Amino acid sequence: MSKRLKLILWTCVSILAFLEFGAASNIGICYGRNADNLPSPNRVSELIQHLNIKFVRIYDANIDLLKAFANTNIELMIGVPNADLLAFAQFQSNVDTWLRNTILPYYPTTKITSISVGLEVTEAPDNATGLVLPAMQNIHTALKKAGLEKKIKISSSHSLAILSRSFPPSSATFSKKHLTFLKPMLEFLVENESPFMIDLYPYYAYRDSAEKVQLEYALFESSSQVVDPATGLLYSNMFDAQLDAVYFALTAMNFKTVKVMVTESGWPSKGSPKETAATPDNALAYNTNLIRHVIGDPGTPAKPGEEIDVYLFSLFNENRKPGMESERNWGMFYANGTSVYALDFTGENTVPGPVSPSNSTTGVSPSPGDNNNSTVTIGGGGGGGAKKWCVASSQASVTELQSALDWACGPGNVDCSAVQPNQPCFEPDTVLSHASYAFNTYYQQSGGSSLDCSFGGVSVEVDKDPSYGDCLYMIAPATDGMNRTMAGNITGNITAIDSPLASPSTSNEGFRQMVVSVAVSVLLPCFVVSLSLLW
Ligand SMILES: *[C@@H]1O[C@H](CO)[C@@H](O)[C@H](O)[C@H]1NC(C)=O
Ligand SMILES: *[C@@H]1O[C@H](CO)[C@@H](O)[C@H](O)[C@H]1NC(C)=O
Ligand SMILES: *[C@@H]1O[C@H](CO)[C@@H](O)[C@H](O)[C@H]1NC(C)=O
Ligand SMILES: *[C@@H]1O[C@H](CO)[C@@H](O)[C@H](O)[C@H]1NC(C)=O
Ligand SMILES: *[C@@H]1O[C@H](CO)[C@@H](O)[C@H](O)[C@H]1NC(C)=O
Ligand SMILES: *[C@@H]1O[C@H](CO)[C@@H](O)[C@H](O)[C@H]1NC(C)=O
Ligand SMILES: *[C@@H]1O[C@H](CO)[C@@H](O)[C@H](O)[C@H]1NC(C)=O
Ligand SMILES: *[C@@H]1O[C@H](CO)[C@@H](O)[C@H](O)[C@H]1NC(C)=O
Repeated sequence: MSKRLKLILWTCVSILAFLEFGAASNIGICYGRNADNLPSPNRVSELIQHLNIKFVRIYDANIDLLKAFANTNIELMIGVPNADLLAFAQFQSNVDTWLRNTILPYYPTTKITSISVGLEVTEAPDNATGLVLPAMQNIHTALKKAGLEKKIKISSSHSLAILSRSFPPSSATFSKKHLTFLKPMLEFLVENESPFMIDLYPYYAYRDSAEKVQLEYALFESSSQVVDPATGLLYSNMFDAQLDAVYFALTAMNFKTVKVMVTESGWPSKGSPKETAATPDNALAYNTNLIRHVIGDPGTPAKPGEEIDVYLFSLFNENRKPGMESERNWGMFYANGTSVYALDFTGENTVPGPVSPSNSTTGVSPSPGDNNNSTVTIGGGGGGGAKKWCVASSQASVTELQSALDWACGPGNVDCSAVQPNQPCFEPDTVLSHASYAFNTYYQQSGGSSLDCSFGGVSVEVDKDPSYGDCLYMIAPATDGMNRTMAGNITGNITAIDSPLASPSTSNEGFRQMVVSVAVSVLLPCFVVSLSLLW
């Protein structure tokens, strides 16, 4: 196929995919100003526009900043500093005045889309947690009077230290001492469809326990994976593990549906002599890999396909921040506007990363369709008469099979209960055998086309029924066939997976996720191509 034809195909597919799935993950940047040498807000606004960044987090509602972002179409998250919480919580009139004098004159020419109330209050020296919700409620009331309560989301950003433990992710829970403050706050978020905001720093986890944590794992460059023993979910980077810990902690409190937004994440380029990992190379690697990781919506192991909005921390080095040397060196730019390292915000030019077992560039698990073949076979073995099954290839490595097995039993929506202990297909208790069962079920449920037996190349179609003893391998109804359209409608018996995380989703929902992960593999190159044309 010619390059031009491929390009057109990609464009079509991407347009379809965007129509189908709507918005994607967004990358924003934090614009902290704890420094005495930064460029003027107008210069900064120009820089951000030049970088083509569409989402910016600021930490207060400084009028010069609000003015600088007028008519830029940049979506602004503003902050209410901890020092203002008392005033905001105490009197509605304080908030009404603030809104009238500080926000409304610049809205909507400055596109303020969210307000983060308080900054990591659980870590703040004064116990301000009790003020957060009353402040949020007063802001909500004030916005409502102005008719803006649907346009501007209200939340509060938190440190990961709000969890009592974060590993393994499935065991994560919020600290008991914060529950009385969290529960009503989470109810507020659900009621107003606002996200839970969290700041994630694999850097600190690495710095503070370098003997336990591999640098590669923190930098998204690990070639091995860490398994959560309770769920079997595999983690190839710490960011996903931290984010899933938040999802599990929310689920444990029965807040399964609340979205999570990562309001800060980054890596310092310089630190004290003890902070050996704080280098420009590592900062570049982390931020580049983070952008590349979220941009195609791969989600996390526990929430595949989930959109993740991430704000990179931070735009500038901030010379007045107290603490260790690294604190003043999180910026991608020096105060004079020179870049500390050449970060590509589009994710187009990526540092050579690790090869995941699936060999997938996006980090999604192998899924049928992860090949470069645009010719999709429909109908295939299930329909015509020749019966076929799909089994794991004995040539494939255990890691590859495990990863594909996890995909099939998770996002692939296969009911894998038959390979659980005491069930008919548990013995032989090998990944090869379990993967064969899961691959075949997926293949038959999907209509038995060759494409459905790809799994990143670790499976093969066979003519002989692999069933043994009481372990019966599914076969698609031979004559009435399971017709599948290009749009990917599956008619068949799809049992929803029984995972503690699976929100009460319909089978359609599960299938949508599969389509998303298939689409990502097609979409990413398209995205990259279109970006490079725009640039
Ligand atoms: C913080 O204050 C709230 C109410 O103002 C109180 O319920 C909570 O126990 C306090 N937390 C700590 C850690 O002191
Ligand atoms: C900007 O500041 C950095 C760090 O202080 C320095 O290395 C660099 O030379 C400066 N660039 C310009 C153009 O002044
Ligand atoms: C990934 O792909 C490369 C190049 O196509 C290949 O050499 C390598 O063996 C593959 N690795 C795995 C784990 O499949
Ligand atoms: C497509 O896949 C085939 C077979 O796996 C491989 O030989 C070929 O190089 C691939 N083409 C591209 C453009 O990746
Ligand atoms: C791609 O599709 C063509 C036409 O159906 C088929 O002959 C070829 O084997 C496929 N290649 C791969 C790598 O699936
Ligand atoms: C499946 O598709 C074929 C070819 O398009 C068609 O002839 C057949 O009637 C379809 N079967 C069902 C059950 O829809
Ligand atoms: C899938 O096909 C079934 C049966 O033909 C139909 O009822 C359903 O509406 C279709 N769903 C979609 C999303 O097309
Ligand atoms: C789907 O499968 C489950 C268990 O395998 C079975 O109980 C159920 O009756 C099936 N439903 C249909 C519509 O075939």
